[in-house]
Amino acid sequence: MMEAIGLIDGKLIGLREKVIEIEDRGYQFGDGVYEVTRIYNGRPFALKLHMERLFRSLAGLRIPATYSFEELAGFHQLLIEKSGVVDGTVYLQITRGLAPRGHAFPDEATPRLTMSIQPMAPPQFSRANGVKAIFVPDERWLRCDIKTINLLGNILAKQRAKEAGVYEAVQVRQKEPASNQSLDGVVTEGSSSNFFAVQDGKLWTHPANHLILTGISRTVILQELAPKLGISVVEKPFDVAFAKNAQEAFVASTTSEVTPIIALDGAPVGNGKVGPVSCRLMEAFSGFVAKECGIPR
Ligand code: PDD
Repeated sequence: MMEAIGLIDGKLIGLREKVIEIEDRGYQFGDGVYEVTRIYNGRPFALKLHMERLFRSLAGLRIPATYSFEELAGFHQLLIEKSGVVDGTVYLQITRGLAPRGHAFPDEATPRLTMSIQPMAPPQFSRANGVKAIFVPDERWLRCDIKTINLLGNILAKQRAKEAGVYEAVQVRQKEPASNQSLDGVVTEGSSSNFFAVQDGKLWTHPANHLILTGISRTVILQELAPKLGISVVEKPFDVAFAKNAQEAFVASTTSEVTPIIALDGAPVGNGKVGPVSCRLMEAFSGFVAKECGIPR
């Protein structure tokens, strides 16, 4: 087994090396942003879109951007080459840096970049057969559009999914404060994915605002795949009843690609089988990846 490697500020390190100081603000405050980019066939998928989102996240937290797109692309390449990973993920995070603990921004701190690469384990389920999901209250803050490393709401939601024995927890932004466990409100997104529902042949998903992360997979589906397949898209808020009544549902993310949902809160979605729109999008997603990453098909 090859030694797992990472990068700190562009320098190669062993993944088990101790390199982060106690007072790194990422460690003490979760004061940082991240990206997860998929590697297919030794090439990063949609790297430009991921790095553009990274720069938006940095701006959202007012962390200076100290690396250019070209430098970051080079670091991805270096990790791929040095690790020999052909199919996997690159994790990248930038924290505000090292400073004596204090809530307000430090006067002087240099943002710290760390990266690592992992081979992607084959899915432990058959994506083509669909998965189950539950609804949970959305307990997160109001800037979900920033991809921050502060993921407590997401972690608690995913743990609820795990304990319920399902793949994903789909969050509902409640009308009442989050201490109220009712699911009266708007369906936002999964704990680590975007959520889609199909009604009357149309694809519905939450608008890209402060309540969701604008997923790169979501962008690929909305801007590349749906138009080519002639599927109309509705970016409008909808509630739990609407989602439960949908003919089809699926989640999308870097690691899940398009993953159909066949049951929500224990009730079948549509006829409880993977539907035609999800199938076409799954197939189109793989085709798009193959084209972008030079995979022969
Ligand atoms: N998560 N929404 C949330 C809250 C997410 O965490 C993610 C991805 C997405 C989908 O974004 P994308 O299509 O760009 O992967 C939506 C990554 C994979 C993670 O945290 O591991």
